Amino acid sequence: MSGARRPTHMRTITTVAEMTTARDAAAGTVGLVPTMGLLHEGHLSLVRRARAGCDTVTVSIFVNPTQFGPGEDLDRYPRDEKRDLALLRDEGTNLVFMPPPEEIYPPDFDDWVEVGGPIAERLEGEHRPGHFRGVATVVARLFRIVRPDRAYFGEKDAQQLRVISRLTADLGLPVEVIGLPIVREPDGLAMSSRNAYLSTDERSRALSLSRALAEAEQSVREGERDASRIRAAARRTLDAAGVGVDYVSVADEKTLAELETIDRPALLLLAARVGATRLIDNTLLRLPRIARSP
Ligand code: PAJ
Repeated sequence: MSGARRPTHMRTITTVAEMTTARDAAAGTVGLVPTMGLLHEGHLSLVRRARAGCDTVTVSIFVNPTQFGPGEDLDRYPRDEKRDLALLRDEGTNLVFMPPPEEIYPPDFDDWVEVGGPIAERLEGEHRPGHFRGVATVVARLFRIVRPDRAYFGEKDAQQLRVISRLTADLGLPVEVIGLPIVREPDGLAMSSRNAYLSTDERSRALSLSRALAEAEQSVREGERDASRIRAAARRTLDAAGVGVDYVSVADEKTLAELETIDRPALLLLAARVGATRLIDNTLLRLPRIARSP
C-alpha cells in the first residue's frame, strides 16, 4: 500500500455516536494513532506507518484532561486544529476523531483503568501521580470506541508505550500495539509538542538531553557497563546546561526495573525541566554483539 498517495476524503468526527457508526462502516483493517494534537513529524511518522499497514487510518486529537496533574500545562497545552487537519489530510488520513471532553468523560463517567506494577509506578508514574491512570483510561476508551486492529505509539514516551502494551494484554483487548522510533530534529532534540514552549536559550539548553543520551551510547560502545556511572555522567551533562533533573534512569528495556549493570538491552530515560517546560527523552543502550571466533 505504499507508492502514490490515494486521494482521500477525510472526515472529521466529534461525537462517540458518529465515530461508532463510522467504525462499523469502515472497510478492512483500521489503524488508530492517538494524539493530543499540535502535530509534528513524530506524530506523522506514526500516521504514515498506519497508512502503509491499514485500510482505514483514524487519528484522534484529544487533549486528555485526566492525564494532567494540578499545576501542569492542561490550560495552556498548545493547539492548532487547522494546521493539524491540513497535515493529516496530506497524509491520507480517513477519519479524525476530535471529541470535546464531555464526549469522552460524560458527567456520570466513573470507569477508570488503573495500572500498577513496576512498569507504571516508577519514573513518570512517580513524578506525575495519576498520569498513567489518565493515559490508560483514555486509551482504553479510545480502543473501545474506535475498535482498531492496530494502534501506533512512539518510543518517545517509552514508559507510556509499555504501560499501554501491558494494559492491552491484561484486558485482552484485540488490538496490536505497535511502537515506533523517536523522530528528532536535525540537531538531536526529540520532537515534542511541548518544544513550542521553549525560548531560544531554552531550546539550546534542551539539547543537553539528547547530548547526554548520545554520550551514554558512546560509553556503552566503549565498554562501560556500570549503570551508576552512566547515570552520573548524564546528570553532569544536564546539570552543566542548567536544566533541572527529575530523573535519570538506566532500566531493563522490557520491565523498566532499574539496573546496576548493563548486561541486557537497557533504556536510558531522562526527564528534566528547562525553565517551566518539562521534557522527556530516552535511548536504547544496546550491547555490542560479541564477535565470534571463526
Ligand atoms: P502526544 O504527546 O500527542 O503523542 C502522541 C503519540 O506520538 C505518542 O504515541 C507519542 O509517543 C508519539 N510521539 C510524540 N513525539 C514523538 C517523536 N518525537 N517521535 C516519535 N513519536 C512521537 O502521548 C500522547 O499524546 C498521549 O499521552 C496519548 C497517548 C494521546 C493519550 O492521551
